[in-house]
Amino acid sequence: MQVGFYRDKCPFAEAIIKDEVKKSFLEDKGIAAGIIRLQFHDCFVRGCDGSLLIDSTPENQAEKDGSPNKSIRGLEVIDNAKARLEAVCMGVVSCADILAYAARDSNVLSGGLYWDVPAGRRDGRISRAAETEDIPKPSFNLDQLIEFFAKKGLTQGDMVALSGSHTIGRSHCFSFTVRLYNYNTKTMQDPNLDPHYAQLLKIECPRFLQGILNQTLVVAMNQSPFFMDSSYYGNLFKHAGLFNSDQSLLDSQTTAEQATVYATNDLAWKVDFARAMIKLSQVQVLTENQGEIRANCRVINP
Ligand code: HEM
Repeated sequence: MQVGFYRDKCPFAEAIIKDEVKKSFLEDKGIAAGIIRLQFHDCFVRGCDGSLLIDSTPENQAEKDGSPNKSIRGLEVIDNAKARLEAVCMGVVSCADILAYAARDSNVLSGGLYWDVPAGRRDGRISRAAETEDIPKPSFNLDQLIEFFAKKGLTQGDMVALSGSHTIGRSHCFSFTVRLYNYNTKTMQDPNLDPHYAQLLKIECPRFLQGILNQTLVVAMNQSPFFMDSSYYGNLFKHAGLFNSDQSLLDSQTTAEQATVYATNDLAWKVDFARAMIKLSQVQVLTENQGEIRANCRVINP
């Protein structure tokens, strides 16, 4: 893996990808959050090999159709970048690399730091919906989160920094309404959720709309959903983390201390987030003669 991997092979690759991300971002700022999440979901299943981008076929249910991926967005940005790249340098730039560059560009457009992306990833030829079980669930507690990140070679510290990505974007009601309406047998509402915040969420995700409409209703992740800032961590101390997984970052002394630093020092978080994203983007990558360079990110080469 190398920074500037395409400098000689396809000199305008990074510029083309950036241009496509920017174009989409200007139409819909939420796309940046969608793309950063794509990177996470791709890397957690079979490594950062673009396997998330593959469409299902009659013979194969692909990752995209696994339950955590029902709410992904931003795929068309990768498709558009790929089409332009194939036109100028056919068969050179992998879908997995496009995604890694696009995630970096999305971060910068949303007010985060720039980082150099080590590239040279190759695309995988396998994508299975069942393997999306490797993606952590919003109901997870701290131990489960640490365990799932450790399986991918990421530390507790990486996990705390990466979770801050929930400072941008949106969530569907179905991802957290259990905390509002059916938490457990003793209490309907999660006692770890600030009652005022819970009230607001109930207005946005009314109980009577649970079911069909709940599939489409969304709420903003936080008060500045298009801006990369460390307000996510401040919210945790107000018991206003949206998911159980978010709120659980305060459940140990070390993770809570890390969250305190980020809550009060935006730059410290941005630096750690950038470092952790570089690490995430190198999880179990295929390189050199492994895998392939897909011609269409949605389809395994024949
Ligand atoms: C720590 C474990 C994590 C859990 C349990 C989790 C879970 C979720 C859930 C349930 C959603 C809402 C999906 C929806 O209903 O539309 C979401 C959204 C999001 N997640 Fe995570 N996530 C985790 C970590 C991460 C990481 C590591 C990143 C990136 C580095 C990330 C980036 C995002 C972004 C940007 C969104 C907003 C997506 C959009 O607006 O389309 N998440 N996450």
